[in-house]
Amino acid sequence: MINLVLFGPPGSGKGTQAKKLAEKYGLLHISTGDLFRKEIGDKSELGLLATSYIQKGELVPDEVTIGMLKAALARHGSTFGVIYDGFPRTVDQAKALDEMLEESEDEIDVLISLKVEDKEIIERIIKRGESSGRADDKDEAIIQSRIEVYKKETQPVYAYYDAHDKALTIKGSGDIDEIFESLCAVIDQVTVEE
Ligand code: C5P
Ligand code: MG
Repeated sequence: MINLVLFGPPGSGKGTQAKKLAEKYGLLHISTGDLFRKEIGDKSELGLLATSYIQKGELVPDEVTIGMLKAALARHGSTFGVIYDGFPRTVDQAKALDEMLEESEDEIDVLISLKVEDKEIIERIIKRGESSGRADDKDEAIIQSRIEVYKKETQPVYAYYDAHDKALTIKGSGDIDEIFESLCAVIDQVTVEE
């Protein structure tokens, strides 16, 4: 099975690219952000809890996010592979994911980080907020907080996978199709090695 992590700061294009990759390679796209937004839309207890963190630009506690992810994977059953978008966001989430995959003698093949400068990220998120309806895309203080949380809590996930030679970075700014091509080149390499 192929297991990819699409990594990068908020607004780096993970969702856009993950959707395209999932379609091309027949992978299951799991976006924890989308899962939270679905729960919020359904006004579930989990949604209510998640809102209190998301509206401050903070991370939902690990055990909640990990539980939600496990449930989503169980719902989907068997698949050719998974593309994780927006997860893992902490080293503890990465460890939990590794343990979970190990149970089925599986592992993360590669984490690909999309590199985009802060200034461009903020512009992209504000622009997305005009149509996404996401409150956390409209408020600059929330956006700033999300970027700070990324640097402090999420960036160490890169080093965690890099220590196992599983992390790499590609340019995430510029043309969507060009970025997609770079991602495909990496994934083609991984699938050949499978
Ligand atoms: O991934 P995305 O940017 O769509 O996530 C939106 C928000 O959901 C994050 O800013 C964060 O508050 C919450 N989230 C989280 N943990 C994750 C993924 C998302 O707390 N693993
Ligand atoms: Mg996203």
